[in-house]
Amino acid sequence: MAETIKLSIKRQDSPDSTSYWEDFEIPYRPKMNVISALMEIQRNPVNSKGEKTTPVTWDMNCLEEVCGACSMVINGNARQSCTALIDQYEQPIKLEPMSTFPIVRDLQVDRSRMFDSLKRVKAWVPIDGTYDLGEGPRMPEKKRQVAYELSKCMTCGVCLEVCPNVNSKSDFMGAAPISQVRLFNLHPTGSMSKDERLDALMGKGGIAECGMAQNCVKACPKGIPLTTSIAAMQRETTFHMFKSFFGSDHEVE
Ligand code: SF4
Ligand code: FES
Repeated sequence: MAETIKLSIKRQDSPDSTSYWEDFEIPYRPKMNVISALMEIQRNPVNSKGEKTTPVTWDMNCLEEVCGACSMVINGNARQSCTALIDQYEQPIKLEPMSTFPIVRDLQVDRSRMFDSLKRVKAWVPIDGTYDLGEGPRMPEKKRQVAYELSKCMTCGVCLEVCPNVNSKSDFMGAAPISQVRLFNLHPTGSMSKDERLDALMGKGGIAECGMAQNCVKACPKGIPLTTSIAAMQRETTFHMFKSFFGSDHEVE
């Protein structure tokens, strides 16, 4: 008998409908990843009972663990499906959408919550793009190395998914946006908006709501030192609060 791959997929037809599990059995090919298995189902949407069904939907883009779009929960662990190799999983492989984000359909979720937080903390370097700015300012090598590590964030949402304080009842922004504040405050030009970013971190859903569970740093697929970023930003916000409280002239530093 031909070798097959068994998958059990949590499905949901629309954002408000009830979820249900559907099993699939597809032909085995060596070196498949979860996305190639999903593509196989898309080509031939028949479940393991032999019934014709709707193709399973999911998000993807880069297919090389850079965009973060394909994140889902595979056998209980949130990660990117494009780099999840079928041979490494016990079958049936259980695929579920991340639970922290609203479901769009099947394995597709709406990660706006994370992008809205990035907007709130101004996670960018403000530049005037109307003329050629030339080369950016040089950064000390040590700082550049830290910034490079932090810049690997692909807003995949895994750190939010594993955090017990990020859920539908809380506004906590989670580790990724906090770490991005550290990144943009390190940048010589980005640091001009440092105070605004720290104010946003001190607002609703900000750093004070971190419960130090430390799940984020263990789960981040890019190995970003998230708890170090959180500790650094806790120090910075405390310092910022004192400076604002005593009305120092730090704005002109
Ligand atoms: S910090 Fe890591 S886990 Fe969190 S969104 Fe960025 S890459 Fe994903
Ligand atoms: S498709 Fe981009 S990370 Fe998987």
